Amino acid sequence: MDTGLQINSISAAETYPIRQPVLRPGKPLASCVFDGDDFPTTFHLGGFYKNRLVAVATFMEHNQLDHKSKIAVQVRGMAVLKEYQGRGFGKLLLNFGEKLLLDRRIKTVWMNAREIAVPFYKNCGYNTIGKAFIIPGIGIHFVMLKNLS
Ligand SMILES: CC(C)(COP(=O)(O)OP(=O)(O)OC[C@H]1O[C@@H](n2cnc3c(N)ncnc32)[C@H](O)[C@@H]1OP(=O)(O)O)[C@@H](O)C(=O)NCCC(=O)NCCS
Repeated sequence: MDTGLQINSISAAETYPIRQPVLRPGKPLASCVFDGDDFPTTFHLGGFYKNRLVAVATFMEHNQLDHKSKIAVQVRGMAVLKEYQGRGFGKLLLNFGEKLLLDRRIKTVWMNAREIAVPFYKNCGYNTIGKAFIIPGIGIHFVMLKNLS
């Protein structure tokens, strides 16, 4: 399917103007900077539609508690601008990142999923682990995980 979405590697700084309205509305751009954004193993993907950056996702090496012995990657800052949601862009970006991880022989991917995003991640093959927890100022989350193959 040609959705018209072009996916490129982008810098951490390029993600902030997308993270901000989608994930930190009303908060300063500085609130969109995550620890680890600039680690050498971290990569950021941008989805461009008609040359406009409309979707971002960040992939950061970080072992989930249950997977201490393996290299695992946490997906962070998954965000699609509101007017572009529901067109398959989020899934395309996540799938693209998963393929890059497989190239690096990384097979465990996880995220702290907002409650509202759980159905999206389930649709992309992730399962919830454990109980819901609260990230202060943001809300209810679930750890979700997928083993790539
Ligand atoms: C969550 C988010 C990244 C999903 O991206 P998106 O581009 O809107 O989602 P997609 O269009 O790629 O959806 C992919 C699939 O998931 C399904 N899906 C998405 N949201 C869903 C929902 N709430 N309930 C059920 N299915 C859902 C879609 O129907 C689609 O199914 P299909 O592949 O069978 O057609 C995006 O909506 C977003 O940025 N939301 C606000 C920020 C957010 O919550 N980020 C996640 C933080 S953890």
